[in-house]
Amino acid sequence: GAPVEADVSKLEPGALLRVKFRGQPIWVVYRTDEMLESLPSNDPKLVDPGSEVATQQPEYCQNPARAINPSYFVAIGICTHLGCSPTYRPEVAPDDLGPDWKGGWFCPCHGSKFDLAGRVFKGVPAPTNLVIPKHTFLNESTILIG
Ligand code: FES
Repeated sequence: GAPVEADVSKLEPGALLRVKFRGQPIWVVYRTDEMLESLPSNDPKLVDPGSEVATQQPEYCQNPARAINPSYFVAIGICTHLGCSPTYRPEVAPDDLGPDWKGGWFCPCHGSKFDLAGRVFKGVPAPTNLVIPKHTFLNESTILIG
C-alpha cells in the first residue's frame, strides 16, 4: 500500500492519534517531557530496554526514546503476542496497573504491558517490543508512514 500521512499539528500533549496503514492501526503519541523522563526508570523491568531486536524498529529508532523526534512516538498498534490491539493507558499509577506504572499500553487479551516507548515488560506473554514502522518527517507536523 501507499505511504500515509499523519498530521500531528493538532495533537495535544499526551494524546494518541490513530491512522491506518496497510490495514493496520498506526499510533502516533505526542509524548510530554514528563513522559519521556519516565522512560529510563522502566529499563530494569523490560525484556529489551535497548531495542536490540532489530526487527522491531528501523535503525534510526534504535535509541532510548525509540523515535526520530522523541516527542512523537510512532508504532504499529498490534500486540506482539497474538495480534490484539493494546489499550492506551497514559495515566500514572492507576489502581489496576499498579503504583509503578508510568503510562503505556495494556493488552486486554492476555495482559501484556508496554511502556510509552512500546517496550515490553518482563513476565507477560508478548515476546518483543511493539513494531515501529518506517517513517519520516515531511515537515515539523507531518509524518509520512511507510
Ligand atoms: Fe496481547 Fe496476547 S495478544 S497479550
